[in-house]
Amino acid sequence: MSTVDVNAKIPNNVDLQHDKRLLRALEQWQPNYMQWWMDMGPAGFQGADVWLRTATSVDAEGWAHFDYVKMPDYRWGIFLADPVPDRKIGFGDGYGQPTWPVVPGEHRNTLRRLIVTQGDTEPASVEQQRMLGQTAPSLYDMRNLFQVNVEEGRHLWAMVYLLHSQFGRDGREEAEALLERRSGDSDKPRILGAFNQPIDNWLDFFMFTMFTDRDGKYQLLALAESGFDPLSRTTRFMLTEEAHHMFVGETGVERIVQRTAELMKQDPNEDARAQGGVPLDMIQRYLNLWFALSLDLFGGEISSNAASFFAAGLKGRYKEDTFADHLALDQAYRMAVPKEGRVVEEEVALRTAMNEVLRDAYVDDCQRGVDRWNKRLEEAGISFRFELPSKRFYRHIGLYAGLPFDPEGRPLGREDWDRRRTEWLPGESDRAYVAALQKQVREAGQIAHWIGKPPRGIKGLPFEYEYVRLD
Ligand SMILES: [Fe+2]
Ligand SMILES: [Fe+2]
Repeated sequence: MSTVDVNAKIPNNVDLQHDKRLLRALEQWQPNYMQWWMDMGPAGFQGADVWLRTATSVDAEGWAHFDYVKMPDYRWGIFLADPVPDRKIGFGDGYGQPTWPVVPGEHRNTLRRLIVTQGDTEPASVEQQRMLGQTAPSLYDMRNLFQVNVEEGRHLWAMVYLLHSQFGRDGREEAEALLERRSGDSDKPRILGAFNQPIDNWLDFFMFTMFTDRDGKYQLLALAESGFDPLSRTTRFMLTEEAHHMFVGETGVERIVQRTAELMKQDPNEDARAQGGVPLDMIQRYLNLWFALSLDLFGGEISSNAASFFAAGLKGRYKEDTFADHLALDQAYRMAVPKEGRVVEEEVALRTAMNEVLRDAYVDDCQRGVDRWNKRLEEAGISFRFELPSKRFYRHIGLYAGLPFDPEGRPLGREDWDRRRTEWLPGESDRAYVAALQKQVREAGQIAHWIGKPPRGIKGLPFEYEYVRLD
């Protein structure tokens, strides 16, 4: 078990103090990171004491320590999962060969691109969420938001460590650029679409952590398979932090659904809106939006890049070891391809369909969460059911990009799409309604009207605990 030096200027379990060059490079980047955090981190709460967990080791049992911390004092650092002895490349043309402890020259550019793309999403989400503390529905939720934010900051550290330690001058320049792009900025936007979308209310936030953070989980799982061992070890530890983000999203939506159901039952017409709740069809529209935006993050359905990442042993499948054949050479994947206004099934070479294979695993995972929300409706005796829209609905990347499909995946005429769009996606009146519900609740134990309390608090503490000390 590697030991974690928590008290170092940069907490780490990679023996930084014995690599002076790297230590110096990271110590130079650190103040720029802090400046970015003060400028773009949670607005208005940098002085508040927040009940946060901090990584103190990388083993499953005892990795986290909970205490009040002011966010700028959070111990951001570098934590890699312990190495697996004699680890071999698990897929692709180099199947069975030893993994690489340092970046191989021929994959240098590709790996740098993969790491930068992943790294860019981490600060982007902090930027997207920076105003949400102002409208937190409870101190419990506010604390969860800040926990997610500091951990996304740490994920940036994780990727910057790889850039600095393995990619020389190029890596240092990329690490600076990660602090310079800004979510939603037209001149210097973040790299991926969903990370430039505004998240200005808590319904967006919960949908984002449910669906977009879950894309992150699957990207990290694919990178955890990588033959580039430092990337595998970094992403494996990031996954332990990521799990909490999806918990926040999934249970956040669940609590809105439960509250809506309760309010419907109090109304003679089962009208949630009349009782100040978020109507179920409105929740469905936010679900449609964030699910579709998140599907785009997996990339095109047929992708020569995905095929070469797989061939080269850089990016594997979800749980690669559960597949019988790790070469994926002579197999086909059947997918629905749009042709002249219709959709036809076609077979494509499996390696070119690796984005789609990962997307399928993701969709199944999302479905489990949606089933859970539907269970709450069933228990409440309400017949409405949430549904994931078709993978073809509202896509901006890949085979279906820009083509009008309804949520069932049926092709539509352009006019039908324009006319019915606000049935399926949040429109201005939805946004105005949700915005009007957003008010900060600052008293411990209190909660906004439109969302239910969680059944329990953090780490054995009650919901009523003062998770954020304001003032
Ligand atoms: Fe992350
Ligand atoms: Fe996350």
